[in-house]
Amino acid sequence: MAITVQPVTADFVAEVGDVDLSRPLAAEDLSAIRAAFTKYAVLVFPDQAFTDDSQLDFARHFGPLETTVFKARKDHKLRLHENLADVSNLDAESRVLDTNDRQRLYNLGNRLWHTDSSFKRLPAYCSMLHARSIPPIGGQTEFADMRAAYDALPEATKRRLDGLVAYHSLMTSRARLGFSDFDESERRAFEPVPQVLARRLPDSGRMSLYVASHAGTIRGLPDGEARALIDELIAHGTQRQFVHSHRWRVNDLVIWDDRCTMHRGMDFDDQRWRRDMRRATVSDVAPTCEQMGLAVAAE
Ligand code: OGA
Ligand code: MN
Repeated sequence: MAITVQPVTADFVAEVGDVDLSRPLAAEDLSAIRAAFTKYAVLVFPDQAFTDDSQLDFARHFGPLETTVFKARKDHKLRLHENLADVSNLDAESRVLDTNDRQRLYNLGNRLWHTDSSFKRLPAYCSMLHARSIPPIGGQTEFADMRAAYDALPEATKRRLDGLVAYHSLMTSRARLGFSDFDESERRAFEPVPQVLARRLPDSGRMSLYVASHAGTIRGLPDGEARALIDELIAHGTQRQFVHSHRWRVNDLVIWDDRCTMHRGMDFDDQRWRRDMRRATVSDVAPTCEQMGLAVAAE
């Protein structure tokens, strides 16, 4: 049986049914999923009973996988495979993290609008988040369509963004939350990297804004002006008409296009409920400046 694609919104979010992603995937199902993912930037696959391995196997169809940023920390014990980002409120022994646990404070960055791994020179192409346990209330994920947001910009702003390059760092988004507890190796790993502010998607041909709470400065602009512009673009792109809120069910797999969306996690009572979400992340094919034909000197 062929897969079913059911639009949730006109061209941003769709649900996909009649497919079991934990089993080897037929070539025509994979190409139908890829076609849907060119039109819709967020796909929801209900009822996917993944193991970690089958989730990773499915993700590898889309390209090379990222390794979790927590692997770099010597004092941090991983709960999951190094290719799975641990998007949970649990420690390595699956106990709920205390209010003041460093890991919990660090994870609070997911509450800010962002796109995954824009703080890496080679950022993410897409993310695949699977819900193993969810709180009964709260803990939704919101997604914002940066293609629609770009289309709605005034022409003068589009011209202004053309060729502008922002610098993204994980330390910038964490600093917004007052978190500055980084050691030397993290400081080196999280050096700001250049990313275009507007990009064209090679598969659909559409333009998209590319911005996130990781962005802190813009090449050629005074710091204050850069921050004002970044904040304006985030505020513009996250107006309600561009945003979809996903209420999780256990065994939902949601995949989103990191090149042209932002997302954020919503609050829930994390001292009371366990929220266990596991994310496989696929790398993009080239740095954004390279994709847009811009040469950026190393800084
Ligand atoms: C992520 C993320 C938000 C959430 O998995 O990359 O930001 O709702 N998640 O857990
Ligand atoms: Mn994220």
